[in-house]
Amino acid sequence: MMKIAPVEKPYAGNTLQVSARTYGIRSCNMTKVVAINGSARKDGKAAILIRCVPEELENEGIETELVQLAGRKIWGCTACMKCFENRDRRCVLDDDIVNDCIEKMAGAGGIILGSPVYFTDVTAEMKALVDRAGFVSMANDGLFKRKVGSAVVAQRWTGAIHSLDTLFHFLLSADMIVPGRPTIGVGRDIGDVDKDDEGIASAKNAGRSIAWLLKAVAR
Ligand SMILES: Cc1cc2nc3c(=O)[nH]c(=O)nc-3n(C[C@H](O)[C@H](O)[C@H](O)COP(=O)(O)O)c2cc1C
Repeated sequence: MMKIAPVEKPYAGNTLQVSARTYGIRSCNMTKVVAINGSARKDGKAAILIRCVPEELENEGIETELVQLAGRKIWGCTACMKCFENRDRRCVLDDDIVNDCIEKMAGAGGIILGSPVYFTDVTAEMKALVDRAGFVSMANDGLFKRKVGSAVVAQRWTGAIHSLDTLFHFLLSADMIVPGRPTIGVGRDIGDVDKDDEGIASAKNAGRSIAWLLKAVAR
């Protein structure tokens, strides 16, 4: 019979224990989730939808923080590659919100990225964040690896799937664990999102899945 080489204390009784410490993610707070809203409008439809996810997390004792990029200075990646020279978990462009976001993302066990759809994709603010955070992560041995990641998108009529693809490409290429069934909210005016029962239900479901995964990973 084929023998499986033992890894560090893989079993306790009948339970497979995946130790967060073994995989190097204990330096973050597994009971904290940071949600970043890439909308250019503070407290708009994307924010309403994103706020439905933490409701479920808080029921499970998981702290959440919402960061809104609206009105904040944010530059795109300049491809200077200094993050690969410095490897100090920061972007050299230090006069905008990106390093704050990277620090919060690296310190949390879960990351939710939310955006409205702009011309069938995420906002320029969100793209700037994922490009720069993505390179800083790669330059530092995967700052976000094995965290739990999720995506929320608010659209008026079309483009949610393409926008989700953009966010999922970031989450997956950063080696994060991503539960299925992402959140899509549909509505024309701000108040319409509250009436989108399916969008709200999918946001709450995402919250429950993130909580379940965080607890499983942190065991
Ligand atoms: C520049 C711009 C481009 C947009 N492009 C699209 C689009 O391609 N598809 C769509 O469904 N909605 C589009 N919208 C509408 C927004 O996605 C939608 O109103 C969203 O819910 C706004 O979220 P917010 O309230 O968080 O700003 C666009 C809005 C703006 C300002």
